[in-house]
Amino acid sequence: MAPPPRRTLHARAGTTDRVRNHHNPRLPLVDSRRADRIHRNSLPTTTPRPHHRDIRSLVRRIRPRLGAMDVRYVEYAPGELPAVLKAQVLSFLRIVWPEGFTGELRYRDWITNPSYEPHHLLYVAGDLVVSHLEIVHVDLPHQGTTYKLAAPTSVLTFPSFRGEGWAGRLVESACRRIEASNADLGLICCDPHNQPFYAKTSGWPTAPEATVVADGFPTGQAVLMRLLTPKAQHHQADFRHSPIHLKDEL
Ligand SMILES: CC(C)(COP(=O)(O)OP(=O)(O)OC[C@H]1O[C@@H](n2cnc3c(N)ncnc32)[C@H](O)[C@@H]1OP(=O)(O)O)[C@@H](O)C(=O)NCCC(=O)NCCS
Repeated sequence: MAPPPRRTLHARAGTTDRVRNHHNPRLPLVDSRRADRIHRNSLPTTTPRPHHRDIRSLVRRIRPRLGAMDVRYVEYAPGELPAVLKAQVLSFLRIVWPEGFTGELRYRDWITNPSYEPHHLLYVAGDLVVSHLEIVHVDLPHQGTTYKLAAPTSVLTFPSFRGEGWAGRLVESACRRIEASNADLGLICCDPHNQPFYAKTSGWPTAPEATVVADGFPTGQAVLMRLLTPKAQHHQADFRHSPIHLKDEL
């Protein structure tokens, strides 16, 4: 079989026409033989194909790292959040909400009060926390009636993962879980600028007239609330007209 014809860049060898550099037309004209050389040198060189055994060993070496990059959903029952994850959530909170970790609380090493039986929902990449939320459970005395309150709190996404839907999915999943539980009331207390985020992801109505007082101090938080049982629905007006008193800010 005849060999394939050699590719010629310029058939007119020996001519000295002045040509323009195609890569950068602003450069001065060069003679066509020099242009040939420049062009030839800029052609991609062919690299030898790696042997299939090399590819297999490469895959073996990078697979653990690829696995660690997968973001997965995990849940932990009260008291079971692994120390490596707890430390990250705690550090995030200490930096983002320092007011909850000052004065008497300077050595606070808990995320929320353990007596609230926090149930943790997270997205993690290996041992790295991507996003975290916990559902806390509180017996709430209010206007002569005690309600079982469940609230998503400590919601956070580490900055490099924001805007990818992680926290939104956690809020949605927590709210569905609360709706299916025996709680009388689902409550979200949040910074007012986060209210649209929670309204969108929880599907719970906002309660513009409701106010929250934590440890005797008004929190100024925005409130979203779902009244889940006939008992809570019956006392709907109470939640609008008198402040909800909590021991800790949620
Ligand atoms: C608020 C926070 C948890 C959102 O986490 P996230 O993983 O980036 O949120 P998501 O990607 O799931 O956002 C879901 C949707 O809400 C929107 N959203 C996110 N934060 C918002 C906000 N503050 N206000 C309005 N909308 C917001 C997103 O744009 C997204 O909308 P889209 O689906 O149309 O794109 C994150 O910004 C964070 O950790 N902030 C610092 C801690 C904090 O304020 N936590 C809340 C305590 S009240």
